[in-house]
Amino acid sequence: MNVMTRPEELSACAPAGTYVQTVTEVTHYTDRLFRFKMTRPAEFRFRSGEFVMIGLMIDGKPLYRAYSIASPSWDEELEFFSIKVPDGPLTSHLQKVQVGDAVLMRRKSTGTLVNDALIPGKRLYMFSTGTGIAPFASLIRDPETYEKFDELILTHTCREVSELKYGQELVETIRSDEMLSELVDTSKLRHYTSVTREDYPYKGRITELMENGKLYTDLGVPALDPATDRGMICGSAAMLKDTKDLLEKAGLGEGANNRPAEFVIERAFAE
Ligand code: A2P
Repeated sequence: MNVMTRPEELSACAPAGTYVQTVTEVTHYTDRLFRFKMTRPAEFRFRSGEFVMIGLMIDGKPLYRAYSIASPSWDEELEFFSIKVPDGPLTSHLQKVQVGDAVLMRRKSTGTLVNDALIPGKRLYMFSTGTGIAPFASLIRDPETYEKFDELILTHTCREVSELKYGQELVETIRSDEMLSELVDTSKLRHYTSVTREDYPYKGRITELMENGKLYTDLGVPALDPATDRGMICGSAAMLKDTKDLLEKAGLGEGANNRPAEFVIERAFAE
């Protein structure tokens, strides 16, 4: 298969309505996860938490998948956190990108994991599994999220301990970021990690930890309450459904951009 990665070559044949951007950094975390950063078109605007279509030109045809933008809306570059699927039509090629390679991006971003889709509250829960942490990587670096809520609780559950590394490094970077620390109180941010297939101090699916109350005991907070708590969910289809059921059981209602409410969900964009 032929993947066109040279910027000049790709620019010459890029489909209408697409940007051709250059990869600036690639980090591989495990054999299933990697992150890449790329240049941001000067006029490209998005809201933290949104996703965009990212693609490659494979055998002369553009192939796209939806990717949450992991960087905040003020950042000069765009960051993405991706799964690697060995036979995945896009990710089997995307995982090989290197600094200087060109990637396609459609012009319009969209999504429901945005501050505007939630009514004000005290505590924001961001429930994520696997690469579902990506939109929250954007939101926890956006001062607006800190202005809107007193407490930000990011939960991240993965199969293995090594898969938590992206999130752990991210939170450490936020805490030591001078600019962000001047703008917001980063001590409002709490990071709760759990693992399902290896030994780890916090073990189990997030849904189990909510149901048996361990999540709340560990954090020292009361159980979910629609009067104070808001939620955002990003993970696999099954995780979204199960977590959504628990939020609804607790009395939280699902919101949307044009109808803000107590929680919102977004599909994880795995192949
Ligand atoms: P488990 O190991 O029990 O399947 P994946 O990489 O498959 O998306 O999984 C990421 C994490 O999400 C894993 O820890 C996995 O747990 C967990 N998970 C999978 N299905 C659900 C679900 N229905 N509800 C909550 N967590 C889930």
